[in-house]
Amino acid sequence: MDFPGAHILSIQQFQREDIERVFRTADRMEPYAQRTKLTRVLEGAILGNMFFEASTRTRISFGSAFNLLGGEVRESVGMDSSSLIKGESLEDTARVLSGFSDVICMRHPEAGSVAKFASASRVPVLNGGDGSNEHPSQALLDLYTIEKELLARGRGIDDLRIAMVGDLKHGRTVHSLSKLLSLFRNIRVVLVSPTELAMPEELVELLKVAGHQVTVTESLEASIADVDIVYSTRIQEERFSDRAEADLYRGRFRLNQAIYTKHCDPNTVIMHPLPRDSRAEANELDSDLDANPNLAIFRQTDNGLLVRMALFALILDVTQLLEKYEQPIPWHNSRDPRLKPLDDQA
Ligand code: CP
Repeated sequence: MDFPGAHILSIQQFQREDIERVFRTADRMEPYAQRTKLTRVLEGAILGNMFFEASTRTRISFGSAFNLLGGEVRESVGMDSSSLIKGESLEDTARVLSGFSDVICMRHPEAGSVAKFASASRVPVLNGGDGSNEHPSQALLDLYTIEKELLARGRGIDDLRIAMVGDLKHGRTVHSLSKLLSLFRNIRVVLVSPTELAMPEELVELLKVAGHQVTVTESLEASIADVDIVYSTRIQEERFSDRAEADLYRGRFRLNQAIYTKHCDPNTVIMHPLPRDSRAEANELDSDLDANPNLAIFRQTDNGLLVRMALFALILDVTQLLEKYEQPIPWHNSRDPRLKPLDDQA
């Protein structure tokens, strides 16, 4: 991929060498994220962070990533507080906002909306999630986490065994991750969902065409034995016609420490794009797993910062200038070290 100036709309823009470039650039961001070094390489640049649908980590980590590279962030949050609510088109919104920004991140509830916005933007646009369609930066941070977790266990991504669990119909993170995994070799994928919330057939087909072994099931316990990663997801209530319909499926696939101990191989990694639904009726990843060192969910969010910094550095073409714009850190840094994979934690 030609990164400088590129829109990032779908994970299908990436080849293996592009992923490797993002990941090795993300590695270089660790000291800046740790605040052991400061770089001002994007000083003067402005990120337009446009989130027309609820978000905690994607919005804040895109914004923090830009700040950590020295840039400034302007935000619009929620459809009701933007002029989209007055009938302004996505294209007009893009024409306006791209006049104020050097790069734009956008989340919107409609599939295809970010691509539509990008078609009228004068600056690069990054897809922060468009309906049930895609969440490319999440897939990159998920795979970066998988790479790190497996590396700590002496393995690579090829030959991975992964169970994806939950609302696979509406979950854009598993859609993007499946597309990304189709670039790798000999993956065994177990898709665990209610039949009504199954992975879209075209994505199952994509995995099969890539030569992967795909199993579709409604049984959690049988599926989480003999895998490297259990990737749990939330029932995407916002994609259902009402709460009652989502309630039909909520709480169907709960993972807690007792189930993990009984059914999973030791050291099976537990992932989730978050937010996990911790309400009693869902409780898809029980808080008793928080003490399990294989729970990687907060390492995922830490890694997301590095991956998003890497995307900005590549798209704005400053990867060779990071060190040149370094400055000493003037404040006392008392933060704990960032979370490391299992074998590095000793
Ligand atoms: N994983 C994710 O997209 O989280 P947010 O909805 O909080 O951004």
